[in-house]
Formats: sequence, structure tokens, C-alpha cells
Amino acid sequence: MIISANFKTFKTRLETGEYLTQLEESLENSSQEVLIFPPLTALQTHNGRVKVGTQNSYPIDSGAFTGEIGVEQLDEFNIKTILIGHSERREIIGESQKEVAEKFRFFAEKGFKIIYCIGEPLSIRESGKEALHNYLQSQFDDIDIDYENFAIAYEPIWAIGTGVTPTLEEIEDTLKWIKEFSNRSLLYGGSVKLNNTEEILELPSCDGILVGSASLKVNDFIQMIKIADSLEKR
Ligand code: PGA
Repeated sequence: MIISANFKTFKTRLETGEYLTQLEESLENSSQEVLIFPPLTALQTHNGRVKVGTQNSYPIDSGAFTGEIGVEQLDEFNIKTILIGHSERREIIGESQKEVAEKFRFFAEKGFKIIYCIGEPLSIRESGKEALHNYLQSQFDDIDIDYENFAIAYEPIWAIGTGVTPTLEEIEDTLKWIKEFSNRSLLYGGSVKLNNTEEILELPSCDGILVGSASLKVNDFIQMIKIADSLEKR
């Protein structure tokens, strides 16, 4: 399974280094694919079981894009994994589907592992299944779903950072619907906590999780990985 942590705008470079050390020490007997996405200033070369990815990059090698970074800066730390389409970037930063798709195309061409995020606002969820599917479908506009090296993270916007999650049936239903047109690994994200990790990972269509606030405590994140390991041994 893919167990991933999105630090968002939390943690310094030093804290991220300490986190990685502790995480690596716990992974000896784990078979999970573990990814962490620290803030840009905490990106660092890391040789170990954990893959360090970037939460963002401009789709350029290098150039005049004030405040952004490009592949040249990622290469310095051998970063080959990127989060694209997170709802905080779509909603707060204002990234359009066109921009998101352009990033996807660019980083796919570079061979990056992409965690591609999709998810609906509450108003869409409350409008019924057809509205939900149409909305999620539109987030695949101009996305090459045949690209080999990507996983999809389904993260309902109303579940992110709120402590509210869809029912297990709703999560499974949506993941199953995505599985019908894409055979990529499917992650769920949005208020994943220690106490709901097992039931979410147990869902038949769920191949992993993308964890925000609950990943900030390394011991909790380590526990989540252990839960994934215990499920696979069953
Ligand atoms: P959360 O964030 O776990 O804090 O809800 C998830 C995410 O935004 O990836």
C-alpha cells in the first residue's frame, strides 16, 4: 500500500530531518511504500525507504517565475515525486484544471511519480451521485490516465482538515467508480486519523492513504504504517 504524509506548511527543515530519521528506523520490517511531502524549504536528499516528494513545482526546468521552483531545484535533492492537484492549491492558490493538467503533462514527461489529487466540495456531494461523478470526471480533463507512474488520491474537500469523513460506504463507492476507468493505485485522504486508518485501508478499492494533520506526529504516522502492514499479513 502507499502510505503518504502531506506536511503542508508545517515543519522546518530540521524537524523534517528528525522525522525522517525516526521514520526510517521504524520501517525495517515494513512492506509499505512510504512517501512524505514536506514544505519546499525542507526538501532534502534522502537515501532510504521513504521517498521525499514535493508538494508543488512550476512546470519548468528553470526560468523567471518568482516565488516558484522548477526541476533544476528538485534535481539538486534528487526529488522525483510530486503532488499535483491538491484542493488547497486548486481552491486557495487558484490553480485551474488547465494549469493542473499542464503540470501533470510536464512532470509525466520527466518520469516523476505523481500523486494526483481530486475531490469535490460539499455542495456537489449533496447534489447526488451524478453531480459528484461529473465533477470528479472534470478533474481528469486533459490528464493522461494511461501514464504509468501515478496514483490517484481521492480527497473530498469537506473532509480535509475538518475531522469529518465520508462514510466508509461513500468512500468505497467513489473509489470503486474511479477504478472503473483507471487501474492506478487509489488513495483516500481527508481527516484520516489513527482511529479510522484500519477501516479505511480495509476497503476493497483502497490502496493507501494521504494523511495531513495526523501525519505531523511521527509516532502516529508510524502506527498507521504498522496498521497497513498488519492488514497485509492477514
Ligand atoms: P487532513 O489533510 O488529513 O489534515 O484532512 C489531508 C490532505 O489535505 O491531504
